This record gives sequence, C-alpha cells and structure tokens, in this order.
Amino acid sequence: MKDAIIRCCKKEDEAGIVNVCYHSGYMGEDLDNKNIFNDVKLFGYLFCVYYVRYQTEHCFVAEDVKTKQIVGYILGALNTKKQKIDFYLKMSSKILSHVTTCTILKYPETLKSIMFFLIYGRPEKLPKNLFSEYPAHLHINILSEYQRYGIGAKLMEKFENHVRLNRVKGIHLQTTSENIKAISFYNKLGYQLISEHRIHLWRDIKHLRSLLLVKKMDNIYS
Ligand SMILES: CC(C)(COP(=O)(O)OP(=O)(O)OC[C@H]1O[C@@H](n2cnc3c(N)ncnc32)[C@H](O)[C@@H]1OP(=O)(O)O)[C@@H](O)C(=O)NCCC(=O)NCCS
Repeated sequence: MKDAIIRCCKKEDEAGIVNVCYHSGYMGEDLDNKNIFNDVKLFGYLFCVYYVRYQTEHCFVAEDVKTKQIVGYILGALNTKKQKIDFYLKMSSKILSHVTTCTILKYPETLKSIMFFLIYGRPEKLPKNLFSEYPAHLHINILSEYQRYGIGAKLMEKFENHVRLNRVKGIHLQTTSENIKAISFYNKLGYQLISEHRIHLWRDIKHLRSLLLVKKMDNIYS
C-alpha cells in the first residue's frame, strides 16, 4: 500500500516535481527511454518549473509518508490570462538560452521534437469566454507506481477547495485523446468536455486530439 500526504508546494520541491513531470508527462506515460525528448531540464522549463517558482501558493504536492519523495503534484494558476503573459515574460529567455547552449549540442532528438511542434503546431482556438468563465487551470501528475490509490482525487480536492476559497468561479484543463486514464479520472470528478481539436504535439503520434475540459466551482464562500 502506497501512502502519501498532500501538502503545500515549496520552492525546494522543484527537482522532485520535474522528476514526476518527466516520468508521467508523455500523455500520461514515462518519457524515459522513448528517445524523443531526453532533455529533462528543458521539459521541466516548458511544463512545470514556472509554477513551482512563480505560482507556488497555488500548487500542492503528494509526498510519500515514509521516503518523503515527491510522488505527485497539482500545479495551477487562478488567473490564466495573466499567467500566460507572466510565463512568457519569466520563462522565454531561460528556455531560449537553454536550447541554444545545451539542447542544440547534446539533445538532437529533443530539438527534432521541438522543431516538429514549431512547424506543425497551430495556435489553439480557445472558446471566447474560457478565461472569464473558467479563470483557473491545473496540471496533475502522479508517478505510475502511486496511481490508483486515491492520491489524484485528494490533490484535486485540495486544489478545488483552494480555488473556491479564492472565489474563482471555474477551472479549465487540457488533456489528449490518448490519455484514457486521465479522461476517466476527470469525468469521474465532474469535468465536462467543451471543445476538442486536432494537434501535432509529438512527432511519433498521429491523429492526436487536444481535449478542453471545464468545471464550475459552486462558490460556497461567496
Ligand atoms: C490521471 C491521474 C492523475 C489519476 O490519479 P490517480 O491517483 O491514479 O487517481 P485516483 O486513484 O484518485 O482515481 C480516482 C478515480 O479516477 C478514475 N481513474 C483513475 N485512474 C484510472 C485508470 N487508470 N483507468 C480508469 N479510471 C481511472 C477512477 O474512476 C478512479 O476511481 P476508483 O479508483 O474509485 O475507480 C494519474 O493517472 C496520472 O497522474 N497519470 C499520469 C499523468 C497524467 O496523465 N496527468 C493528466 C494529464 S492531463
């Protein structure tokens, strides 16, 4: 039996969070040994480091009771519109500098994956009222050996309560058509699909669809 406590995120959790992100971030699966994105640091910069450093108060982690290892997390922001600009301001120079000084030299397969995304990826068409109706968003990941123990549901409960306490009226999130376990998980927790479209995210996966799901927060504190 795996047992984990849920606690607020700290900046020192960054390495543990990047580890979980990399080992569960390929449409819910481990990226290790796939040989399509070996640059772990860049993966962290793109998907989780920003939240740990700059949205710490809106993030929570699951920590193994015995080993104290970070085994899962929920990262998010309450105001996505603002957060997108902030991500750009704070992370783009770090990402660019890392790509030009490290990725290009050491990780040709990662560079290929990025080029694929830059060439074929299209800017997403999000519903007009998304950020006003569902201002918050989240990312949740749990190491495979800790999945199916109720940790994900506990992290979601923690984040949703945090959103309600801050009087934010709704949450949106994105997943992909390949991620069957995430789709079932979000459905069980009351998230509804509001739009989907074709995406070119990974060069080895064809016919991938991006799914946008939402949930209104019944604001018991307002
Ligand atoms: C999706 C994820 C967060 C679920 O976390 P979890 O701790 O395993 O989920 P829980 O144990 O709290 O499950 C809650 C409910 O979700 C559903 N569910 C979770 N995993 C499922 C699976 N593999 N298959 C079908 N249903 C699943 C079930 O209804 C489950 O309730 P039950 O156990 O009573 O049947 C976890 O599988 C994960 O981190 N996956 C890899 C990363 C990822 O895909 N993140 C989402 C990216 S958008």
